[in-house]
Amino acid sequence: MNLVKRDRKHLWHPYTQEKTAPLPVPIVRAKGVWLETEDGRKILDGISSWWVNIHGHSHPFLNEAIARQAAELEHTIFAGFTHRPAIELAERLVDVLPAGLTRVFYSDNGSTAVEVALKMAYQYWQNCGEERKTFVALENAYHGDTFGAMAASDKSSFTKPFQDLLCRVLRADGDLEKLESLFRKHEGEIAAIIIEPMLQGAGGMIIWQAEFVKGVRELCDKYNVLMIADEVLTGFGRTGKMFACEHAEISPDMICLSKALTAGYLPFGATVATEDIYGAFLSDDRAKTFFHGHSYTANPLACAVAIASLKLFDSEKSLERVSAISEKFRSFAKTIGRMPMVENARTIGAVAAFDIVSSETGYLATIGQRLYLEFLDRGILLRPLGNVLYFMPPYSISDDEIDRVFGEISEVLNSLEI
Ligand SMILES: Cc1ncc(COP(=O)(O)O)c(C=O)c1O
Repeated sequence: MNLVKRDRKHLWHPYTQEKTAPLPVPIVRAKGVWLETEDGRKILDGISSWWVNIHGHSHPFLNEAIARQAAELEHTIFAGFTHRPAIELAERLVDVLPAGLTRVFYSDNGSTAVEVALKMAYQYWQNCGEERKTFVALENAYHGDTFGAMAASDKSSFTKPFQDLLCRVLRADGDLEKLESLFRKHEGEIAAIIIEPMLQGAGGMIIWQAEFVKGVRELCDKYNVLMIADEVLTGFGRTGKMFACEHAEISPDMICLSKALTAGYLPFGATVATEDIYGAFLSDDRAKTFFHGHSYTANPLACAVAIASLKLFDSEKSLERVSAISEKFRSFAKTIGRMPMVENARTIGAVAAFDIVSSETGYLATIGQRLYLEFLDRGILLRPLGNVLYFMPPYSISDDEIDRVFGEISEVLNSLEI
């Protein structure tokens, strides 16, 4: 029986309407930016496999790091125990993170990294003797699919069925004056604000000015609100800097990391906090402990590949590569932005995004599905968010491969009837 037949018997896929979705594409191996199907077709991974892959698939250096670690120590409990990969990764992260972020708490994925940050912020104020019952988050935000992360995310078709169960979150937009009035009105009530610095991903690849991120930091200082930067998507070079907060030259109180943390190899998350936050949990009263953890917290294989990925940033000069990609993206955005069916062509780092003129907008816009299938036919994986088409490849992509994708995008858009 081929893979698809076996899949259809028992599997249930994420974000998939199983009744109407096309059959899943069976992938048997991958190398660099190329995925290979069971019948030998090659597909260029234009979305870094859900934004996680940065150095290319099946990279020999990363493969070796995992194999070596597996032979030495595959996993152990992390409460009451520790190990070298967890320690070394924490040291390396603290070295590259914005100043002041020095306490690393590991979890399993992007949603848990956010969940941990929200819980830490909430309990921080209790441990400090204050009751702060709400959070602030932005319009169009997406922070993940667990309950806290859904509450922080803006209302959407993803969160609709669960809306009644979600905790209270105040919604702000990109206007700093309005944000200040919100902070003033709810002074002493807000535990934290959570933002995706510079780039809101799933909400439609919305790019922010650094001034906004800087302004949020200033307001947090003025009104004594914790600032959480969700860099699950933006972390590790995606926006052209190692972390998106660097564009605004600020440090948040907590940062959430996942996705490219393991270069797309293993599920992993980290929430990194300041010493001030950590200090509020130190007490002779055990009730002030942060009672959160996962069976696989600090998994040594994940730590090992994350360490190896950070080494590749040096040996393969990944940030320089992102700069070069960024340059190419900017000039393509100029050209494609002139097409009548394209609006708001925009780029940041190794992300290029375009709104396709369509009578429908939003995640469920059918144009997205049509484009997805058309590109797949042409051997390119692009997965539009509704009418927002974006290209977010691994940094290891070559100039020729980029040009090939640009060519296909131009052709497909030219053939669109709008
Ligand atoms: C900014 C941001 N935060 C959190 C998440 C959730 O991460 P995960 O899918 O690993 O739970 C995502 C996923 O796309 C994200 O883009």
